[in-house]
Amino acid sequence: MEVKKLLCSTLREKPETMRASRKMGNIDINKLIRMGLNENAFGTSPKAIAAMQEMAAKGNTYQDWMQTDLKSAIAEHYGVGFENIVTGPGSSSVTDALGVAFLEPGDEVLLCMPTFPAIIDTAQNNGAKPVIIPTKEDLTYDLDGLLANINEHTKMVYICNPNNPIGTYVGIDALTAFAKKCPDHVIQVYDEAYIEFAEAEDCKEMVEVMKELKEKPIVLLKTFSKFYGMAGIRAGYILAQPELIEWLSKCGTQFALSKVSQAGAAAAMRDKEHGEYVKRENARSRAYLTEELKKLGCKVYPSQTNFIFFDPHVDPQEVSMKMMERGIMISAQAGANRVTVHRMEMCQLFIRYLTEILEEMRK
Ligand SMILES: Cc1ncc(COP(=O)(O)O)c(C=O)c1O
Repeated sequence: MEVKKLLCSTLREKPETMRASRKMGNIDINKLIRMGLNENAFGTSPKAIAAMQEMAAKGNTYQDWMQTDLKSAIAEHYGVGFENIVTGPGSSSVTDALGVAFLEPGDEVLLCMPTFPAIIDTAQNNGAKPVIIPTKEDLTYDLDGLLANINEHTKMVYICNPNNPIGTYVGIDALTAFAKKCPDHVIQVYDEAYIEFAEAEDCKEMVEVMKELKEKPIVLLKTFSKFYGMAGIRAGYILAQPELIEWLSKCGTQFALSKVSQAGAAAAMRDKEHGEYVKRENARSRAYLTEELKKLGCKVYPSQTNFIFFDPHVDPQEVSMKMMERGIMISAQAGANRVTVHRMEMCQLFIRYLTEILEEMRK
């Protein structure tokens, strides 16, 4: 069987991306302490767990197509209407919907690298060309560089804020100025997967800018995977102006959100107490890791997220392998390492192992 002959041409010609080529070999990651995937180590809201358990018992009937409860929770949280929301099983799937709705061969999608690479897949799956601008020297997003590269083929610009894998952010004033300058034919996509962890006063969600700049096609990518601790449950959404939402709704992702995910996501968003706990504990462990990594002589990038990007000044792949041998999974990418903020005892264990590893490697 020659499946390749059956493939649509965009997929046949698609280069292998970082995501598609990510392989774990024979390692069972469930046996590792997971500090490599930016999951929430502080857990899911107990209220969300109870809501999901209750809903799981009703799994024989279909979910609420209108998603009234989940959309009410999101609408209340952001002061938006149902017409500003489209959901899907994870932010990756609503990103795919953006591609289906808006991208076609000949289009360009602008982004800075290093960043979260899902948008590259989305572009290529739809025959569009990713145009990559390097980040600035301090690895923050280069907004002027992005503006300078916009042309008549540019259909979309993607900004991850705070940025994965670096953890740094662009302040709300700079982003607002960018949003105003961006021409109307360019869909501005702001991926705010980690923004709920942010503590800096000017690291803000773009929702008020989206509401104010009605004439601009602004899209906010949101997920329940990180701050709300529901990565395995799969729930995400887009906030945008109603006309964009109307077309995105036709791409079908919202019908893929199970009743269990809907109930869990709504309860998680309403559980402010658990949210405060997650934010506080994450900030405490993040401060500890930042301090200890600096003491070990690593270059540490300031993080507003639940991960820390650091240059160990030795081969990051080897650091990651040696850490894995000791039972902790971290990531090596973009010439450095990225470690997910975890509960304090895990952070202490990670620092103990890293001290050993760096001593070995620096000999
Ligand atoms: C910046 C960013 N956006 C989106 C996602 C994916 O989120 P989801 O689990 O909702 O698909 C991730 C996951 O790591 C991410 O880092």
